[in-house]
Amino acid sequence: MKPFALVWLLPIVMASTRGHQPPVIPTIEGPITGGTHEHPFSAWVGDISDISYVEEEYFISGHAFRYNVTGNLTIDGKWTLVPIDPANYKTRILIRRPAKEADFNGDAILEWINVSAGYDLMISDGPGVYEAGFAFAGVSVQVVGIVGYQNVTGMAPLGLTEWDPARYGSLNVPDDRYSYDIYTQAANLLKSGLIPGLKAKNVIGTGESQSGIRLNAYANGVQPISNAFDALIPVISFGQASDFSRLIGAPYTGTTDLAPAVPTRIRTDLKIPVHQINTESEALYVYVQGCRQPDTALYRYWENTGAAHANLLVLQKTAAVATQDQLPNQIPTNSPTIDPVSWLPPLDAAYQHASRWIRTGIPPPTFPLMEIGPSASMPLGVDYIRDSLNNTKGGARQPEITVPIAAYNGTFIGVRTSFTDETLKSLYPTNKDYVIKMKVASSVAVKEGLILGYQASNLVNGAIHANVPPS
Ligand SMILES: *[C@@H]1O[C@H](CO)[C@@H](O)[C@H](O)[C@H]1NC(C)=O
Ligand SMILES: *[C@@H]1O[C@H](CO)[C@@H](O)[C@H](O)[C@H]1NC(C)=O
Ligand SMILES: *[C@@H]1O[C@H](CO)[C@@H](O)[C@H](O)[C@H]1NC(C)=O
Ligand SMILES: *[C@@H]1O[C@H](CO)[C@@H](O)[C@H](O)[C@H]1NC(C)=O
Ligand SMILES: *[C@@H]1O[C@H](CO)[C@@H](O)[C@H](O)[C@H]1NC(C)=O
Ligand SMILES: *[C@@H]1O[C@H](CO)[C@@H](O)[C@H](O)[C@H]1NC(C)=O
Repeated sequence: MKPFALVWLLPIVMASTRGHQPPVIPTIEGPITGGTHEHPFSAWVGDISDISYVEEEYFISGHAFRYNVTGNLTIDGKWTLVPIDPANYKTRILIRRPAKEADFNGDAILEWINVSAGYDLMISDGPGVYEAGFAFAGVSVQVVGIVGYQNVTGMAPLGLTEWDPARYGSLNVPDDRYSYDIYTQAANLLKSGLIPGLKAKNVIGTGESQSGIRLNAYANGVQPISNAFDALIPVISFGQASDFSRLIGAPYTGTTDLAPAVPTRIRTDLKIPVHQINTESEALYVYVQGCRQPDTALYRYWENTGAAHANLLVLQKTAAVATQDQLPNQIPTNSPTIDPVSWLPPLDAAYQHASRWIRTGIPPPTFPLMEIGPSASMPLGVDYIRDSLNNTKGGARQPEITVPIAAYNGTFIGVRTSFTDETLKSLYPTNKDYVIKMKVASSVAVKEGLILGYQASNLVNGAIHANVPPS
């Protein structure tokens, strides 16, 4: 493979079609093989050929910029950044694409890999990604993912370079201020045609939590300069954006860069669709900061009633990856009180909405926001308003909420409180009643565009096998 000649030619070709600053395409190396583990970190769990996909890892390298902020990071998101101080970097991108190019739907999803656990977690993909023929990639853009937490009590360093020095020893991200531009270059790569079998027409950016907070910053500050993305979907991001500075020291010490964050809305003059998705863990913060904003032709905001930040589905996905990669410190997933209501099925639907939104301008459906009112006992001074069964009113309501068997408090990993036997019996005199109501609710949710067909089947199967009403 001779990537170098192409690397120099491509920016010129792409510039003429876009009329902007030429996109910077990183140098690529790969597909990468070997190393101690002989597979990529956070790889597909199982055999990906079962779904007619291939998974390949590449190294990307080049010069990245960091950004100097001109003026203030105001809550309207209308920020001005200036790229400065280019530095060398080298990192990895993990790519899953249809084995047959003809099965590729033309759109790549690029996950900003989450590093809050002290290592890379790539979990924004649901079954719908692969059913619809998307390419799905994750890129390691933050220092912690590369080298792990170096100096945090109780946290072993578990970055790529410790996990498999033979495979990943040459990787280097100077510091997290460079993460934004590395993310841009990864998106440019997916469109460049340099990856065999994958020339994306559109790239959809996504990321959760800390990564979602960086994605909000990217949307307001970097996308207007880079024009690299065709849609952005920041998830569970608290209405916050990282501030482009570098935090050294508290709350972590050593090699960590949990940047300070500022409250923000998404700027309304952005030229691409942005879809924010939150749960009960984040929506109160969005509300009190004044960061809720109206839906428009290019903006959607979903608040998922009853759902939690790190819910059962997310913990199970995380545990599967952690088991495969032999990582310690897994959060147990067997407690019946962990919230099963997740942001992942709506995110999976949102990808397909985004594809259509980009191509046709038809935006995703709108949902009411959750109902919030004053509360003297809550630290933020507000709380969700609950219905007679103790579930939050309003919001994007998945079938677990419209045909409930429990009350959900979506704080962090959430608390699921099962209804009493009496309540369950009065709601669903027979299991057949429960199953029929679940079938109707699931097909309504699919029709509304909140979840996909496979999730409706999961929920109906769950209802058939549930001990509801209790025997
Ligand atoms: C960043 O921008 C500020 C004001 O816009 C300027 O004073 C400062 O010199 C810049 N810093 C760098 C490193 O370019
Ligand atoms: C930026 O914020 C500071 C502190 O709040 C304020 O004093 C200053 O006037 C602001 N600058 C601009 C350009 O709005
Ligand atoms: C990502 O980061 C946040 C904290 O910033 C953490 O709470 C969350 O559990 C992490 N993992 C996932 C899979 O989102
Ligand atoms: C680790 O933390 C200790 C205590 O905060 C500090 O003195 C030391 O310099 C840190 N080491 C690194 C490599 O950051
Ligand atoms: C709702 O919560 C209250 C207070 O915790 C409790 O007394 C009540 O039984 C709950 N209602 C249902 C239907 O579970
Ligand atoms: C939900 O959980 C939070 C955090 O534990 C708690 O402060 C709040 O009171 C709970 N709300 C309800 C309605 O149970």
